[in-house]
Amino acid sequence: SYVWLNGAIVPATEAKISAFDRGFLFADGIYEVVPIYSGQPFLFDAHMERLERSLREVEIPQPVSRAHWLEIIAQLHAHAPLEHAVLYIHITRGAEFPRNHLPSPNLQPTVMATLSAFTPPVGSIAPARATLMEDIRWLRCDIKSISLLGNIMAKMAAQQDGSIEPLLHRAGRVTEGASSNYFIVKDDVLITAPADTLILPGITRDWVLKLAKKNGISVEERPFSVAELYAADECFLTSSTREIVPIGTVSGQLINDGQCGPITEKLMTCFRNSRP
Ligand code: PDD
Repeated sequence: SYVWLNGAIVPATEAKISAFDRGFLFADGIYEVVPIYSGQPFLFDAHMERLERSLREVEIPQPVSRAHWLEIIAQLHAHAPLEHAVLYIHITRGAEFPRNHLPSPNLQPTVMATLSAFTPPVGSIAPARATLMEDIRWLRCDIKSISLLGNIMAKMAAQQDGSIEPLLHRAGRVTEGASSNYFIVKDDVLITAPADTLILPGITRDWVLKLAKKNGISVEERPFSVAELYAADECFLTSSTREIVPIGTVSGQLINDGQCGPITEKLMTCFRNSRP
């Protein structure tokens, strides 16, 4: 497989990054994940806006323009044609020696991108399990940071509990998953946590909110509690690579009857019809 690294496409086995890269030393960088269906990046501008915002928030200069990203995708496709793909973008502040928390000015960011095979979800309504756990991450989860240790620890704990995803909360307030956003439905109202600094503003989350509004479903972006989650009629999660996944059980407790609810199923159909 191939990697686009700092301006050139190289075989993955030959891609080299400095041992003093601040991404390696400090996780000083940001990333983005864009699904590509049949060669078409889905919600590309929204992903680019989020990428550019993450860079601004951490004061890393934007090294690649949107138009250039489209060229890079085409180049990667030319090297390894894939029907559907996931574009992974990874940008760090750059490399410098000696190691110093405070970055020097005018570092050259390290930029890496890969395409990997993507199997779009088939839209199964089989409900999945999630595991409730405390959100121990930092307080700027709105930045798509490559520092993901908290997310990874939660993901491993969820797997050990037989779940597909952790469901994180802070003092009883539901935030998000390790790599997904959560929604609940109560009395025909779709509810999801607000896009503040405690969650990543998911591109799929935003798209699902738009689809819901277009289809006459009432939506509320507001904090909701673990108690509301357990009393909900429906629950699902969203992400770029998983689209919409119905959640039937949280830490062994059924949500309603534990089946995929009608609003979830409707949104899954709307989603499938709205993407390439
Ligand atoms: N993760 N919350 C977190 C913490 C995430 O890492 C992600 C995405 C989401 C969902 O965002 P989106 O709908 O834009 O994919 C929410 C990506 C897919 C990943 O880390 O691979």
